[in-house]
Amino acid sequence: MAELELIGVNKSYGRVVAVKDINLKIADNEFFCVFGPPSCGKTSILRILLGLTQPDEGEIRINGQRVNEQGPKERNLAMVFQNLALFPHMTAGENLAFPLVERKIDKTEVKRRVQAVAETLHITKLLRKLPAHLSGGERQRVAIGRALVREPTAFLMDEPIAALDARLREEMRVELKRLQRELKHTLVYVTHDQEEAMSVADRMAILEGGMIRQVGTPDEIYNHPQSRYVAELIGSPPMNFIAGTYQPQNGRFVASAVPLELDLAARADGDPCDARLAIRPEDLRIHEAGNPRAALAAEVYEVEPLGAFTIVDVNIGETILKVMEPGQPSYRLKQPIALGITPAKCHVFDGATGVLLKGAA
Ligand SMILES: Nc1ncnc2c1ncn2[C@@H]1O[C@H](COP(=O)(O)OP(=O)(O)OP(=O)(O)O)[C@@H](O)[C@H]1O
Ligand SMILES: [Mg+2]
Repeated sequence: MAELELIGVNKSYGRVVAVKDINLKIADNEFFCVFGPPSCGKTSILRILLGLTQPDEGEIRINGQRVNEQGPKERNLAMVFQNLALFPHMTAGENLAFPLVERKIDKTEVKRRVQAVAETLHITKLLRKLPAHLSGGERQRVAIGRALVREPTAFLMDEPIAALDARLREEMRVELKRLQRELKHTLVYVTHDQEEAMSVADRMAILEGGMIRQVGTPDEIYNHPQSRYVAELIGSPPMNFIAGTYQPQNGRFVASAVPLELDLAARADGDPCDARLAIRPEDLRIHEAGNPRAALAAEVYEVEPLGAFTIVDVNIGETILKVMEPGQPSYRLKQPIALGITPAKCHVFDGATGVLLKGAA
């Protein structure tokens, strides 16, 4: 069992703040994703957990025990690094065995564990091959296997499949999810791919500039983003934002650049303020022009058929919104349409701070 905890952790390199005020508790047996854009502190968090980087402030706990004074060996967390490096002169099998040989583990036990891990990862047939003779995906499995053989307290993985092509990444992420479930181990998994994070995580943390902006299940993050930053980062195609004014007392949103007024849920407090109405492409609906139930008159601007669904860009004057429709509906460019907006699906963020003013139902 392994519960990992960071309490009030800070780390700077000169003027660069790598992580700031991180408080995070990762539960035993959890598939926990750390997600964010480049340089936001993802690798730093893993290195601090692992014991390779000392924080300037804060405490690291494993199963409730402070481990700041322990080195990586004592903490016994297995890491798959961002730039995985296999030993080129060793076969896949020897690479797998290396962490055990290094620890002077008995030969028959090494053999047993390498076999077991190879079977789990479906690489038994590759054990005699050199890394140069393996495909990218196979090398990746060997690198992950090298972490698995150790029977560590928990796993840390730093974008382990980012270098693979898209199809292979999709395959590997399903396997990682299966592996984690089978092994029943805590896994902290760094990725900059939002779809990957959403698909594998039990819970995820969204970072910005070394700080945690939100922690939650993929469902919470997707449906209840607490800031414009998180709303923009998660979801593809991205959320639509419409500028305007929100009146908290009566819940009225009045758009500034398009003729749109919506009655949303009211809040008890707050003055009218500059705001952004946010709505996901799949929560907009295209109706026939003139439909009285629709909120806005618009025109078809661009159509992207993607097979299972179609992204339709519609414009209202200069404002372009993305609509996601199932299947392959046919539209012609500049076709007049009417846009339906469900108020319950709308979020409102503060125009200046990006903080959530009113969440979706
Ligand atoms: N050893 C170091 N010395 C100086 N600056 C560092 C060091 N390690 C990290 N940083 C800086 O700290 C910040 C966070 O780096 P980190 O590697 O944690 O980001 P990341 O989210 O993993 O980025 P990427 O997606 O590019 O891997 C960056 O600005 C980086 O330049
Ligand atoms: Mg990194």
